[in-house]
Amino acid sequence: MTHPPTPLLPVRVPLPGRALRLWLKLEALGPFGSIKARTAEALLDALEEAGRLRPGDRVVESTSGNLGIALAGLCAARGYRCTLVVEPSTPRASVTLMTEYGADVVTVPELPSGRTLDARLEAVRDILRQDDTAVWTDQYESSANPRVHTTRTAVELARDAPSGGFDAVAVAVSTGGTLAGVADYFRAHRPSTRIIAVDAVGSAALGGTPVHRPDKLAGFGSGRASRFVARRHWDRLVRVRDLDAVAACARIRERTGLSLGGSAGASVLATVMDAARRPGTADAACVCPDGGDKYPQLTGVVTRNPEGVTAEVAAALDALGHARCDEYAHPGTPPVTEGVAKP
Ligand SMILES: Cc1ncc(COP(=O)(O)O)c(C=O)c1O
Repeated sequence: MTHPPTPLLPVRVPLPGRALRLWLKLEALGPFGSIKARTAEALLDALEEAGRLRPGDRVVESTSGNLGIALAGLCAARGYRCTLVVEPSTPRASVTLMTEYGADVVTVPELPSGRTLDARLEAVRDILRQDDTAVWTDQYESSANPRVHTTRTAVELARDAPSGGFDAVAVAVSTGGTLAGVADYFRAHRPSTRIIAVDAVGSAALGGTPVHRPDKLAGFGSGRASRFVARRHWDRLVRVRDLDAVAACARIRERTGLSLGGSAGASVLATVMDAARRPGTADAACVCPDGGDKYPQLTGVVTRNPEGVTAEVAAALDALGHARCDEYAHPGTPPVTEGVAKP
Protein backbone atom coordinates (compact mmCIF):
# COMPACT_ATOMS: atom_id res chain seq x y z
CA MET A 1 0.00 0.00 0.00
CA THR A 2 1.19 3.47 -0.75
CA HIS A 3 -0.85 6.09 1.02
CA PRO A 4 -3.02 8.04 -1.46
CA PRO A 5 -3.32 11.85 -1.26
CA THR A 6 -6.11 13.18 0.95
CA PRO A 7 -8.53 15.97 0.01
CA LEU A 8 -8.15 19.62 0.92
CA LEU A 9 -11.48 21.27 1.63
CA PRO A 10 -11.85 25.07 1.78
CA VAL A 11 -14.06 26.56 4.50
CA ARG A 12 -14.76 30.28 4.64
CA VAL A 13 -14.65 31.89 8.09
CA PRO A 14 -15.79 35.52 8.41
CA LEU A 15 -13.48 37.82 10.37
CA PRO A 16 -14.14 41.55 10.95
CA GLY A 17 -13.94 43.22 7.53
CA ARG A 18 -12.60 40.19 5.64
CA ALA A 19 -12.82 36.42 5.21
CA LEU A 20 -10.32 33.73 6.08
CA ARG A 21 -10.17 30.66 3.88
CA LEU A 22 -9.30 27.60 5.95
CA TRP A 23 -8.06 24.66 3.92
CA LEU A 24 -8.83 21.47 5.83
CA LYS A 25 -6.61 18.54 4.90
CA LEU A 26 -8.94 15.67 5.69
CA GLU A 27 -6.78 12.76 6.81
CA ALA A 28 -9.90 10.95 8.03
CA LEU A 29 -10.59 10.17 4.38
CA GLY A 30 -7.30 8.29 3.97
CA PRO A 31 -6.59 4.63 4.78
CA PHE A 32 -7.45 3.58 8.36
CA GLY A 33 -9.17 6.92 8.91
CA SER A 34 -6.23 8.95 10.17
CA ILE A 35 -2.89 10.56 9.36
CA LYS A 36 -1.22 7.80 11.35
CA ALA A 37 -1.61 5.41 8.41
CA ARG A 38 1.21 7.40 6.78
CA THR A 39 3.34 7.06 9.90
CA ALA A 40 2.59 3.36 10.38
CA GLU A 41 3.52 2.55 6.81
CA ALA A 42 6.75 4.56 7.06
CA LEU A 43 7.76 2.98 10.39
CA LEU A 44 7.24 -0.56 9.08
CA ASP A 45 8.99 0.19 5.77
CA ALA A 46 12.02 1.56 7.65
CA LEU A 47 12.31 -1.57 9.79
CA GLU A 48 11.88 -3.85 6.77
CA GLU A 49 14.49 -1.92 4.77
CA ALA A 50 16.92 -2.23 7.68
CA GLY A 51 16.30 -6.00 7.77
CA ARG A 52 14.95 -5.75 11.31
CA LEU A 53 11.59 -7.46 10.71
CA ARG A 54 11.13 -11.09 9.68
CA PRO A 55 7.82 -12.79 8.83
CA GLY A 56 6.03 -13.80 12.01
CA ASP A 57 7.83 -11.24 14.21
CA ARG A 58 5.80 -9.26 16.71
CA VAL A 59 5.47 -5.51 16.15
CA VAL A 60 5.04 -3.60 19.42
CA GLU A 61 3.99 0.03 19.85
CA SER A 62 2.53 2.46 22.37
CA THR A 63 -0.42 4.33 20.89
CA SER A 64 -3.25 6.69 21.76
CA GLY A 65 -5.36 4.93 19.13
CA ASN A 66 -4.81 5.98 15.55
CA LEU A 67 -1.31 4.58 15.03
CA GLY A 68 -2.45 1.33 16.62
CA ILE A 69 -5.37 0.92 14.21
CA ALA A 70 -3.12 1.42 11.19
CA LEU A 71 -0.32 -0.78 12.54
CA ALA A 72 -2.78 -3.56 13.39
CA GLY A 73 -4.18 -3.48 9.86
CA LEU A 74 -0.79 -3.29 8.13
CA CYS A 75 0.71 -6.04 10.32
CA ALA A 76 -2.20 -8.33 9.45
CA ALA A 77 -1.59 -7.64 5.75
CA ARG A 78 2.21 -8.07 5.96
CA GLY A 79 2.30 -11.20 8.13
CA TYR A 80 3.43 -9.81 11.50
CA ARG A 81 1.88 -10.29 14.89
CA CYS A 82 1.11 -7.05 16.70
CA THR A 83 0.82 -5.92 20.32
CA LEU A 84 -0.42 -2.42 21.07
CA VAL A 85 -0.18 -0.65 24.42
CA VAL A 86 -3.00 1.83 25.04
CA GLU A 87 -4.43 3.77 27.99
CA PRO A 88 -7.94 4.27 29.39
CA SER A 89 -8.45 7.48 27.35
CA THR A 90 -7.97 5.54 24.09
CA PRO A 91 -11.43 5.44 22.44
CA ARG A 92 -13.21 2.09 22.74
CA ALA A 93 -13.96 2.17 19.04
CA SER A 94 -10.22 2.33 18.30
CA VAL A 95 -9.44 -0.63 20.58
CA THR A 96 -12.23 -2.65 18.93
CA LEU A 97 -10.74 -2.02 15.49
CA MET A 98 -7.24 -3.02 16.66
CA THR A 99 -8.53 -6.34 17.99
CA GLU A 100 -10.62 -6.93 14.86
CA TYR A 101 -7.39 -6.69 12.85
CA GLY A 102 -5.99 -9.40 15.12
CA ALA A 103 -3.74 -7.31 17.39
CA ASP A 104 -3.28 -7.96 21.11
CA VAL A 105 -4.11 -4.88 23.13
CA VAL A 106 -2.62 -4.11 26.57
CA THR A 107 -4.24 -1.28 28.55
CA VAL A 108 -2.13 0.40 31.25
CA PRO A 109 -3.86 2.24 34.14
CA GLU A 110 -4.04 6.03 34.22
CA LEU A 111 -1.10 7.57 36.13
CA PRO A 112 -1.44 10.85 38.06
CA SER A 113 0.04 14.15 36.80
CA GLY A 114 -0.35 13.42 33.09
CA ARG A 115 2.35 10.72 33.12
CA THR A 116 0.42 7.76 31.72
CA LEU A 117 2.67 7.73 28.64
CA ASP A 118 5.55 6.64 30.91
CA ALA A 119 3.49 3.59 31.94
CA ARG A 120 2.79 2.78 28.30
CA LEU A 121 6.49 2.94 27.41
CA GLU A 122 7.42 0.77 30.39
CA ALA A 123 4.89 -1.84 29.22
CA VAL A 124 6.48 -1.78 25.74
CA ARG A 125 9.93 -2.37 27.29
CA ASP A 126 8.52 -5.29 29.33
CA ILE A 127 7.23 -6.94 26.15
CA LEU A 128 10.59 -6.42 24.40
CA ARG A 129 12.38 -8.06 27.37
CA GLN A 130 10.02 -11.05 27.42
CA ASP A 131 9.66 -11.81 23.69
CA ASP A 132 12.75 -11.95 21.49
CA THR A 133 10.63 -11.81 18.33
CA ALA A 134 9.23 -8.42 19.46
CA VAL A 135 10.34 -5.32 17.52
CA TRP A 136 9.39 -1.76 18.54
CA THR A 137 8.42 0.57 15.70
CA ASP A 138 9.11 3.47 18.10
CA GLN A 139 7.12 6.38 16.73
CA TYR A 140 8.75 8.64 19.34
CA GLU A 141 12.32 8.21 18.02
CA SER A 142 12.22 6.83 14.48
CA SER A 143 13.26 9.41 11.89
CA ALA A 144 10.83 7.68 9.49
CA ASN A 145 8.02 9.44 11.41
CA PRO A 146 8.80 13.09 10.55
CA ARG A 147 10.33 12.13 7.18
CA VAL A 148 7.07 10.82 5.72
CA HIS A 149 5.39 14.14 6.53
CA THR A 150 8.13 16.04 4.69
CA THR A 151 8.08 13.78 1.63
CA ARG A 152 4.30 13.18 1.45
CA THR A 153 1.99 15.20 3.69
CA ALA A 154 3.71 18.55 3.09
CA VAL A 155 4.27 17.90 -0.62
CA GLU A 156 0.54 17.22 -1.06
CA LEU A 157 -0.30 20.40 0.85
CA ALA A 158 2.02 22.54 -1.27
CA ARG A 159 0.81 20.97 -4.52
CA ASP A 160 -2.88 21.53 -3.69
CA ALA A 161 -2.43 25.06 -2.30
CA PRO A 162 -4.31 28.01 -3.85
CA SER A 163 -2.29 30.03 -6.36
CA GLY A 164 -0.59 32.34 -3.84
CA GLY A 165 0.30 29.47 -1.52
CA PHE A 166 -0.67 29.30 2.14
CA ASP A 167 -0.08 32.23 4.46
CA ALA A 168 -0.12 29.81 7.38
CA VAL A 169 -0.15 26.08 8.09
CA ALA A 170 -1.31 24.72 11.46
CA VAL A 171 -0.31 21.34 12.85
CA ALA A 172 -1.26 19.78 16.19
CA VAL A 173 1.32 17.75 18.08
CA SER A 174 1.64 14.49 19.90
CA THR A 175 4.99 12.91 19.00
CA GLY A 176 5.59 16.05 16.91
CA GLY A 177 6.41 13.99 13.81
CA THR A 178 3.80 15.72 11.66
CA LEU A 179 4.79 19.23 12.77
CA ALA A 180 8.55 18.71 12.36
CA GLY A 181 8.14 17.02 8.98
CA VAL A 182 5.70 19.56 7.54
CA ALA A 183 7.67 22.52 8.92
CA ASP A 184 10.95 21.22 7.46
CA TYR A 185 9.35 21.15 4.02
CA PHE A 186 7.86 24.63 4.19
CA ARG A 187 11.03 26.14 5.70
CA ALA A 188 12.96 24.77 2.72
CA HIS A 189 10.47 25.42 -0.10
CA ARG A 190 8.17 28.26 1.02
CA PRO A 191 9.75 29.96 4.01
CA SER A 192 7.21 32.80 4.05
CA THR A 193 4.50 30.37 5.21
CA ARG A 194 3.80 30.87 8.88
CA ILE A 195 3.86 27.64 10.86
CA ILE A 196 1.44 27.41 13.77
CA ALA A 197 2.20 24.69 16.32
CA VAL A 198 -0.86 23.58 18.28
CA ASP A 199 -0.44 21.85 21.63
CA ALA A 200 -2.89 21.04 24.40
CA VAL A 201 -2.98 22.97 27.66
CA GLY A 202 -1.39 20.51 30.13
CA SER A 203 0.72 18.76 27.48
CA ALA A 204 4.52 18.64 27.64
CA ALA A 205 5.02 17.95 23.92
CA LEU A 206 6.52 21.38 23.25
CA GLY A 207 7.91 22.08 26.70
CA GLY A 208 6.52 22.48 30.19
CA THR A 209 5.39 20.02 32.81
CA PRO A 210 2.52 17.67 32.03
CA VAL A 211 -0.61 17.95 34.16
CA HIS A 212 -3.65 15.72 34.42
CA ARG A 213 -6.18 16.57 31.69
CA PRO A 214 -9.64 15.43 32.82
CA ASP A 215 -11.14 16.00 29.36
CA LYS A 216 -8.11 14.75 27.43
CA LEU A 217 -8.62 14.23 23.71
CA ALA A 218 -6.70 11.13 22.62
CA GLY A 219 -3.87 11.83 20.19
CA PHE A 220 -3.62 15.52 21.09
CA GLY A 221 -0.61 16.57 23.18
CA SER A 222 1.76 14.33 25.09
CA GLY A 223 3.09 13.63 28.56
CA ARG A 224 6.64 14.01 27.19
CA ALA A 225 8.65 16.48 25.13
CA SER A 226 8.79 15.76 21.40
CA ARG A 227 12.13 14.38 20.18
CA PHE A 228 11.49 15.81 16.71
CA VAL A 229 10.34 19.37 17.17
CA ALA A 230 12.85 22.20 17.68
CA ARG A 231 12.12 25.90 18.18
CA ARG A 232 12.83 26.60 14.48
CA HIS A 233 9.78 24.52 13.53
CA TRP A 234 7.15 27.06 14.50
CA ASP A 235 6.45 30.78 14.28
CA ARG A 236 3.66 30.71 16.83
CA LEU A 237 2.72 28.17 19.45
CA VAL A 238 -0.94 28.13 20.49
CA ARG A 239 -2.02 26.03 23.46
CA VAL A 240 -5.65 24.98 23.29
CA ARG A 241 -7.79 23.58 26.12
CA ASP A 242 -9.43 20.24 25.36
CA LEU A 243 -12.93 21.61 25.93
CA ASP A 244 -12.29 24.58 23.62
CA ALA A 245 -11.21 22.11 20.90
CA VAL A 246 -14.45 20.17 21.47
CA ALA A 247 -16.44 23.41 21.04
CA ALA A 248 -14.57 24.19 17.80
CA CYS A 249 -15.37 20.70 16.45
CA ALA A 250 -19.04 21.26 17.28
CA ARG A 251 -19.12 24.61 15.44
CA ILE A 252 -17.52 23.10 12.34
CA ARG A 253 -19.94 20.16 12.43
CA GLU A 254 -22.97 22.44 12.76
CA ARG A 255 -21.84 24.69 9.92
CA THR A 256 -20.35 22.22 7.44
CA GLY A 257 -21.44 18.73 8.49
CA LEU A 258 -17.81 17.72 8.79
CA SER A 259 -16.86 15.58 11.76
CA LEU A 260 -13.34 16.58 12.85
CA GLY A 261 -11.26 14.92 15.58
CA GLY A 262 -10.20 16.92 18.63
CA SER A 263 -6.71 17.81 17.45
CA ALA A 264 -8.15 19.04 14.16
CA GLY A 265 -10.65 21.18 16.05
CA ALA A 266 -7.78 22.60 18.11
CA SER A 267 -5.86 23.47 14.94
CA VAL A 268 -8.86 25.16 13.39
CA LEU A 269 -9.43 27.23 16.53
CA ALA A 270 -5.73 28.17 16.78
CA THR A 271 -5.64 29.19 13.12
CA VAL A 272 -8.68 31.45 13.44
CA MET A 273 -7.20 33.05 16.58
CA ASP A 274 -3.88 33.62 14.83
CA ALA A 275 -5.50 35.01 11.66
CA ALA A 276 -7.64 37.41 13.71
CA ARG A 277 -4.38 39.05 14.88
CA ARG A 278 -2.83 39.09 11.41
CA PRO A 279 -4.80 40.85 8.67
CA GLY A 280 -2.41 39.46 6.03
CA THR A 281 -3.59 35.90 6.58
CA ALA A 282 -6.12 35.02 3.86
CA ASP A 283 -5.43 31.33 3.17
CA ALA A 284 -4.42 28.96 5.95
CA ALA A 285 -4.15 25.18 5.93
CA CYS A 286 -5.02 22.96 8.88
CA VAL A 287 -3.84 19.39 8.97
CA CYS A 288 -6.87 17.47 10.30
CA PRO A 289 -5.40 14.19 11.63
CA ASP A 290 -8.68 12.30 11.99
CA GLY A 291 -12.45 12.50 12.25
CA GLY A 292 -14.58 12.86 15.37
CA ASP A 293 -16.87 9.86 15.18
CA LYS A 294 -14.88 7.56 17.47
CA TYR A 295 -14.58 10.12 20.29
CA PRO A 296 -17.50 10.08 22.73
CA GLN A 297 -16.77 13.74 23.66
CA LEU A 298 -17.28 14.85 20.06
CA THR A 299 -20.65 13.36 19.21
CA GLY A 300 -22.96 15.53 21.36
CA VAL A 301 -24.25 19.02 20.68
CA VAL A 302 -22.29 21.89 22.26
CA THR A 303 -24.31 25.06 22.20
CA ARG A 304 -22.62 27.14 24.89
CA ASN A 305 -19.00 28.15 25.16
CA PRO A 306 -17.05 26.14 27.75
CA GLU A 307 -16.53 27.68 31.17
CA GLY A 308 -13.48 29.89 31.56
CA VAL A 309 -13.17 30.59 27.86
CA THR A 310 -10.98 33.62 27.07
CA ALA A 311 -12.28 36.54 25.00
CA GLU A 312 -9.93 35.55 22.15
CA VAL A 313 -11.19 31.96 22.07
CA ALA A 314 -14.81 33.15 22.35
CA ALA A 315 -14.32 35.44 19.33
CA ALA A 316 -12.78 32.60 17.31
CA LEU A 317 -15.63 30.22 18.25
CA ASP A 318 -18.11 32.90 17.25
CA ALA A 319 -16.42 33.27 13.84
CA LEU A 320 -16.53 29.47 13.40
CA GLY A 321 -20.24 29.64 14.18
CA HIS A 322 -20.60 31.56 10.88
CA ALA A 323 -18.27 29.37 8.80
CA ARG A 324 -19.42 27.75 5.58
CA CYS A 325 -17.98 25.40 2.99
CA ASP A 326 -16.36 27.26 0.13
CA GLU A 327 -16.50 26.14 -3.48
CA TYR A 328 -14.19 23.17 -3.81
CA ALA A 329 -11.60 23.97 -6.43
CA HIS A 330 -8.97 21.28 -6.63
CA PRO A 331 -6.17 22.32 -8.99
CA GLY A 332 -6.85 20.83 -12.40
CA THR A 333 -10.56 20.37 -11.74
CA PRO A 334 -12.75 22.47 -14.05
CA PRO A 335 -15.23 24.69 -12.19
CA VAL A 336 -18.71 23.28 -11.71
CA THR A 337 -21.10 25.13 -14.03
CA GLU A 338 -24.79 25.10 -13.29
CA GLY A 339 -27.35 24.20 -15.92
CA VAL A 340 -25.08 22.46 -18.44
CA ALA A 341 -24.89 18.99 -19.89
CA LYS A 342 -28.42 17.82 -19.11
CA PRO A 343 -28.90 14.41 -20.76
C1 LIG B 1 -5.81 12.57 16.54
C2 LIG B 1 -4.35 12.87 16.43
N1 LIG B 1 -3.97 14.13 16.24
C3 LIG B 1 -2.69 14.49 16.17
C4 LIG B 1 -1.70 13.56 16.29
C5 LIG B 1 -0.30 14.08 16.29
O1 LIG B 1 0.56 13.46 15.46
P1 LIG B 1 2.12 13.47 15.73
O2 LIG B 1 2.40 12.25 16.57
O3 LIG B 1 2.69 13.38 14.37
O4 LIG B 1 2.52 14.71 16.45
C6 LIG B 1 -2.05 12.23 16.50
C7 LIG B 1 -1.05 11.22 16.73
O5 LIG B 1 -1.27 10.18 17.31
C8 LIG B 1 -3.41 11.87 16.55
O6 LIG B 1 -3.81 10.60 16.74
